[in-house]
Order: sequence, then C-alpha cells, then structure tokens
Amino acid sequence: KKGNYEHYMEKEIFEQPESLTTTMRGRLIRGGESKLKSVVLGGLKDHLRTMRRSRRIIFIGCGTSYNAALAARPIIEELSGVPVTMELASDLLDRQGPIYREDTAVFVSQSGETADTLQALEYANSHGALCVGITNTVGSAIARGTHCGVHINAGCEIGVASTKAYTSQIAVMTMLALALGDDSMSSRNRREEIVDGLFDLPNKVKEVLKLDKDMKELAKLLTEEQSLLIFGRGYNYATALEGALKVKEVALMHSEGILAGEMKHGPLALVDETLPIIVIATRDATFRQALRPCFLLLTYSRSYALIPDSKQQSVIQQLRARKGRLIVICTKGDAEAVCPYGVSRVIEVPRVEDCLQPVINIVPLQLLAYHLTVLRGYNVDQPRNLAKSVTTQ
Ligand code: UD1
Ligand code: M6R
Repeated sequence: KKGNYEHYMEKEIFEQPESLTTTMRGRLIRGGESKLKSVVLGGLKDHLRTMRRSRRIIFIGCGTSYNAALAARPIIEELSGVPVTMELASDLLDRQGPIYREDTAVFVSQSGETADTLQALEYANSHGALCVGITNTVGSAIARGTHCGVHINAGCEIGVASTKAYTSQIAVMTMLALALGDDSMSSRNRREEIVDGLFDLPNKVKEVLKLDKDMKELAKLLTEEQSLLIFGRGYNYATALEGALKVKEVALMHSEGILAGEMKHGPLALVDETLPIIVIATRDATFRQALRPCFLLLTYSRSYALIPDSKQQSVIQQLRARKGRLIVICTKGDAEAVCPYGVSRVIEVPRVEDCLQPVINIVPLQLLAYHLTVLRGYNVDQPRNLAKSVTTQ
C-alpha cells in the first residue's frame, strides 16, 4: 500500500526514519553504569573472532548494495584494522579473482536473490572463505547460503530503485564495524560516539527529509538537462556513485558519480558554464577549516582569519574557476564558508558523525532523482528495462 504517497519510491524515501529504527532495534546497547555503549549482532557473535583474524574482508555486491559497502568501507577498515577490498560480483566472476580460506567474503544484497552475487557466493564458498550475508529478505538464497549474517530488517522494498535498503545496509555495516572493533580500548571513545550517532540517526533523517520542497525546486531547474555530474570523496565517494545511479535509473538522465580526487585526471575537461555539477562538501577529514595567521595592511598587526584548508573547498574553487554550474551539498551553517561567491545553489544538511554522513547525504539526492523522474514523465517505480531482482546473468 502506498498510503498518502503517489509512488512506492517516494513512500520508501520518507519511511527511512522508521526503517532505520527497525534496522537498529535490539542491536544497540545504550551503556551506563559499568556497561559500554556497544552493539549486538545476534547472527555474527560466534564468528567475530574469525572475521577479526581474517587476512582481508572482501565486500561483494551489485548496484546500490555495492555502493552501500563502499560507504561503510572506511569505518570498517578504521575500527577492525583488517584490509577491506571491494568487488562487483560480475567482475569477480569474470576475472575468477583469487579468494582464500583466510578471507572473509561479505555478500550484500537487498533481495538476497541477485544471480551474480549468488554465484559469487558459491565461488567464494568453494574456495573456503567465511561467507557472511547482509540481506533484507529472510529465507532468501543468499541468507540461506551464507555461514552467518545480518538481516537488515528494512521492511519490504517495492520500488525498483533501492532507497531505504541502502541506508539500512550502511547502518548495519557500521554496526559490523563497531562489533569488529569491540576488543580495542584505543577506539572506545570513537565507538561510543558512533553508537550515540546511530541512536540519533532517525531524527536526523527526519530533519533532512524537510528538504523535499527544495529538491523539487532544484529538479525543476534540471528537468531539461542531458547530464549531471556528482563529485564526492572519502565517506561520500559512495554517495556520489549512488546519487548518480538513482538519477540514471529512474530519471533516465545521464549521470556520473566521480571521485573528487580524480577530477584533474580527466573529468575537469567536461566542465563548462552549461553542465550542472553537484559537489558533496559536508564536514569530515576532507573538509576542515583552519585558523591561519594573516596580516592586516592597515595596522600591521597579525590576526587570524578563516582560510579554506579543505580538499573539497579547493575542488569547489577549481570548478568555479572553470565557470562550472555548481550545486553544493554542505553541512548546516557552512554555506558561506563553502561558497564565497557564485555557487548557483547550496543544500544544507544536518551534521552527524562522519561515518554516518552518507546516510544523511543520500536523502536529498534520492529526492532529486524522484522529482526529476516525475517531472520528466517517466515511470518511477518500474523504470524501463529494469527488474527489482536481477535473477539472470
Ligand atoms: C534473530 C531473529 C529475530 C529475533 C532476534 C531475537 C530471525 C530471522 N531473526 O535476529 O526475529 O527478534 O533474533 O534475538 O529469526 N543469517 C545468515 N545470512 C544472512 C542473514 C542472516 O546466515 O544473510 C543468519 C544469522 O547468522 C542468524 C540468522 O540468520 O543465525 C538470523 O539473523 P538476524 O535476523 O540478523 O539475527 P538477529 O538480529 O539475532
Ligand atoms: O537485491 P540486490 O541488492 O542484490 O540488488 C542489486 C542491484 O540490482 C540493485 O541494487 C540495483 O542496482 C537497484 N535497482 C538500484 O536502485
């Protein structure tokens, strides 16, 4: 049932505060007294030791599920200390890439039935790896075929474009990172802050959903465009890829997610005054401001000024220098700092713990893709040529 919504995609975008709450239900420990703030993943508790000792963790998935793993990769590496590699299931199969007994292979799939992911699971299993599932569908082929795993419990997702499953997958993989890092004293504060952030995440998603009207306005400006670039880096490289995937699959508009660090290695040549570009520049290690000394001419006295010292701000400046039509997604309150002049639009989003920021940042892009699709007159819930579950290769 779509309730008050016109389309399932819209309903599922707006459901995210609730789907995230269900994903985390019973899995977060509030702490207090002698107890630490932590997580419990019932399906993994007997396998965490093996995962921590593995030589590497390989994430395997397709489409949005792959992007969710990419978003969680930095925090899993940080808290577990285990090297994490990423595989698109079809590419792993095409290459017959090496997998060993000492590896943990994590299969991420909303449906649990995707043919390539399922075949990659058989492949990894036959090579002796520990196979872990992150699935939304209880009893699905991937849930049954893995040694252990976590159900994301996001509820049934009907729209072909994956939305609420994406944010729940990131929440589960962040909890996986916390569980893997649970034996380390040095990261205790960091882990507790992330647990607090997870508790508050549904509220922050509610807040960012208020951007709906703004995103509809932006969609109106972009309806006739042929192409849209999205630049991100760090935690939000995945956001750029996932935002572009949404725009191309439902709005049928060419869109490309680009790692901002690669800008000068080719994509910069595309930039002119016509092509719209979204830059994700929310606060994390790639966006910082530093107080730097500067000299005031009149008084000759040294004072301090806020001078951009961030990789993403310098990306914005370079795109501006080429007259790019920029739309910047930044942290609430940063609008002025991010775009001193000439940015065509700023979208301010609430700030959360850096590793959770992809959950917040994807929401305006989901809304943009949704409104673009409606305005361009395409089928939102069943885009042409696509199926919800890709069960053939
Ligand atoms: C489980 C129950 C949940 C109950 C909770 C109470 C199920 C499906 N879940 O949730 O209803 O409220 O205990 O403690 O009965 N698994 C895989 N591969 C996957 C996903 C899961 O092998 O891709 C396995 C897990 O290792 C686990 C089982 O399926 O053995 C259930 O997983 P999950 O639902 O995530 O476990 P709990 O959160 O403990
Ligand atoms: O069910 P899965 O998560 O395994 O599906 C993987 C992809 O087919 C899926 O995410 C696809 O990319 C979506 N339509 C994207 O919105």
